[in-house]
Amino acid sequence: MTLRPTIAFAKHAPPKKGVAIVLSAEQGDLGDAAKACDPGNAFGRAFPVADYAGKFGVVVDVLAPQGSPLDRLVAIGAGKLPALSDYAWMKLGGIAAAQMRNGLEIAIVADLPDATVSPADVAALAGGLLLRTYSFDKYKTKKDDANGKPPAKPARVTIHCANPAAARKAFADQEAVVDGVIIARDLVNEPANTLGPVEFAAKAKELEALGVKVEILTEKEMGKLGMGALLGVAQGSSRPPRMVVMQWMGGKPKATPIAFVGKGVVFDSGGVSIKPAGGMEDMKGDMGGAAAVTGLMHALATRKAKANVVGIIGCVENMLDGNAQRPGDIVTSMSGQTIEVINTDAEGRLVLADALWYCNERFHPSFMVNLATLTGAVMVALGSHHAGLFSNDDELADRLLAAGTSTQEKLWRLPLGSEYDKMIDTKNADMKNAAGRYAGSITAAQFLKRFVKETPWAHLDIAGTAMGSPANEINQSWASGYGVRLLDRLVRDHYEG
Ligand code: BES
Ligand code: MN
Ligand code: ZN
Repeated sequence: MTLRPTIAFAKHAPPKKGVAIVLSAEQGDLGDAAKACDPGNAFGRAFPVADYAGKFGVVVDVLAPQGSPLDRLVAIGAGKLPALSDYAWMKLGGIAAAQMRNGLEIAIVADLPDATVSPADVAALAGGLLLRTYSFDKYKTKKDDANGKPPAKPARVTIHCANPAAARKAFADQEAVVDGVIIARDLVNEPANTLGPVEFAAKAKELEALGVKVEILTEKEMGKLGMGALLGVAQGSSRPPRMVVMQWMGGKPKATPIAFVGKGVVFDSGGVSIKPAGGMEDMKGDMGGAAAVTGLMHALATRKAKANVVGIIGCVENMLDGNAQRPGDIVTSMSGQTIEVINTDAEGRLVLADALWYCNERFHPSFMVNLATLTGAVMVALGSHHAGLFSNDDELADRLLAAGTSTQEKLWRLPLGSEYDKMIDTKNADMKNAAGRYAGSITAAQFLKRFVKETPWAHLDIAGTAMGSPANEINQSWASGYGVRLLDRLVRDHYEG
């Protein structure tokens, strides 16, 4: 089991025990910081034989020589300075975390000129380290792993830098976001038998401790509001649905809020249009959008973001039952628009139709961004490396794209248009919820667009990025927590102050 390390910041000083992880620049000579950890010159001897030149991410791992107070010395290439991005610093933190193994006492030392390492860089390094250390192992009753028994105590990481006080301050904001990502990962990894709609709502309710206002709408209340689209999905499950309305009002009083809306299908069996058995277990993660919204609200409230933000999640379970909705059923959404349910597995758009409409009518937000593990088709189009972005507003879309580039939670914009909109027309109702294989992600987006009126809106299809994406420097878990860092960045860059 991986315990979360403790992180401290300290002034430059040679570490006195444990493992020293030294970040060194490409083509640079060994600097004073490296020499101070390594008076026996183990690095100096190891680098040429290991063909090490400080290229980004390359690692050299040596035993500390006799007489050294340390156990291990690890060099990690930091590449060419000073051009490291925020995300590159997070990656370095992740690479360092992978080198910690069973070490309890870890010192991270930047053998780099102080002018090239800002407090924000140090904070990003620490954030990457925490994200990499995350693992979903609460259900493992045998705590041994391949390396033997991991330590029962958390590692103590000290990051040496020029200005520890400034780094600590920068890290407070960083940690708020990291914890938001971890909340999202935990929610997505959690199986559906322990995380139903009611349990999800209870988890969101915990945000009240941070000053978030949290309301939970029950099935009955949603019925009164006329949310027939969402309730049609929920009616096949013995577990009742919930809609959670979160408000963080950190901005000017009465200023128009911005809003984030998440698909929270705690399990998607497909319903009567049942999915094939292979891989169906992954549908415990069909609430990745709602998880990201919840994690985002945690991040914004913890770092006291100066913005008014609404988060709404629609939590339901899509199951088979004598009372489940059938293909051919026609439901009336809160908007009054009627929907012919062609395929009960196209349930996410039904949930979002009512959540988006409710959000818009109640809050009149200046924009809405929804996140949803909405279509398998977006994985066919973009794989796991970009989420699909659809928007009726170029400024919002451009801001999201830029936030995606800087956080490396990448987006790729796909088109909307009246030709696609026509594809969801049906003779029996105002629209149908499924339109065949072609342009599957776009027709899903066109469907959502019918529930946002003229409000600037963006839909992020995160089916390929929220879960099952390849492990990387800062994530080794099935659930990635995708969306939290992206949207925190969007808010930070454009909607605060
Ligand atoms: N939750 C799924 C989409 C999904 C698939 C997410 C794989 C993550 C991984 C969604 O509810 C769904 O089933 N969509 C259908 C829509 C179709 C019936 C129009 C799909 O993509 O096949
Ligand atoms: Mn489905
Ligand atoms: Zn689904």
